[in-house]
Amino acid sequence: MNRKNKNKKIFHYEEYFVKYENLIPHYEEFLSSLKTPMPQYFRINTLKVFKKEDQEYLLNTLKEKGVVFEEVKEIPYFYRVLNNEEISLGNLEEYSLGLIHSMTLSSSLPVIALDPKPGDLILDMCAAPGGKTGLMAMVTEDKAIIVANDKRIDRLTALVANIKRLGITCAITTRYRGEQFPFGIPFNKILVDAPCTGEGRYRVGLEGEILYQKGTGKANLPSIQKGLLIRAFDLIQPGGIIVYSTCTINPKENEEIVDYLLRKRQAEILDWESPLPFHPGLTEWEGKPYHPSLKLTKRYYTHEIQAVGFFVAKIRRIN
Ligand SMILES: C[S@@+](CC[C@H](N)C(=O)[O-])C[C@H]1O[C@@H](n2cnc3c(N)ncnc32)[C@H](O)[C@@H]1O
Repeated sequence: MNRKNKNKKIFHYEEYFVKYENLIPHYEEFLSSLKTPMPQYFRINTLKVFKKEDQEYLLNTLKEKGVVFEEVKEIPYFYRVLNNEEISLGNLEEYSLGLIHSMTLSSSLPVIALDPKPGDLILDMCAAPGGKTGLMAMVTEDKAIIVANDKRIDRLTALVANIKRLGITCAITTRYRGEQFPFGIPFNKILVDAPCTGEGRYRVGLEGEILYQKGTGKANLPSIQKGLLIRAFDLIQPGGIIVYSTCTINPKENEEIVDYLLRKRQAEILDWESPLPFHPGLTEWEGKPYHPSLKLTKRYYTHEIQAVGFFVAKIRRIN
């Protein structure tokens, strides 16, 4: 069942995902998971609520306001909302005050892979609306320097608002196309959370139509993604760490982009300890072989982690 509106073709989910039938583990489970709403998560913002007793007080207040939640054991300060349909986290006073921030659980993974530390000079190349910028500021206790960049002015507004609301003082914002971000700043860590088709977010409507599907648009996403990753490599100090992430399943936006970097520059893929279950990255797709070390990249599927599907690659600049 295909319907067209002005800019995009709406796909039926079975028709759309069939190309991944042999890629996605427990494919039938994956398809059924798309019919349920995406779980909501929030994290405590320890930049504003740093004492244990204040965190407990905050959690009790949220309970009293009707938020039913459970702690995510694997990732500190994250909680999963259990009464999803009744609660809009963004309407809570605790949200407006920056005591909590809502973000999908898997959004923490690129930050965990990058492992930001106080004193790091970090470029967040595609930062808006700032979920990962905020988490990086939190785990470094606001003691790194984060350049949070995005090319879209409307999304930069949201990024600036989030930085302010969360009480972050270690971040500055810039507006460049990542591919043209100026040289001269000795970054030692860069996050490229690239624009993508967002297949890891897709859900299914009543007629089997894919919801949250992005317009096909004119953008050649793999070409943009390659440009962003190559620039990140050229900007970072030798020995520096780049994390490339997307919320899509498509290997042409994931492994193929990292494989392209390995062919063009002296880089290596690093392993890292993942708190959530993953599958190793692909070393071949549609007959095209990728570098064997691509198996060190990580794929996360929505039905296995109960959050947005993700791809994460941790890369080191050798030279
Ligand atoms: C996946 S979203 C980033 C989400 C963000 N990292 C977070 O955690 O909240 C991708 C972002 O890339 C931005 N973007 C798209 N093309 C870009 C480019 N060429 N240079 C820089 N940013 C770009 C989009 O405006 C969008 O905000």
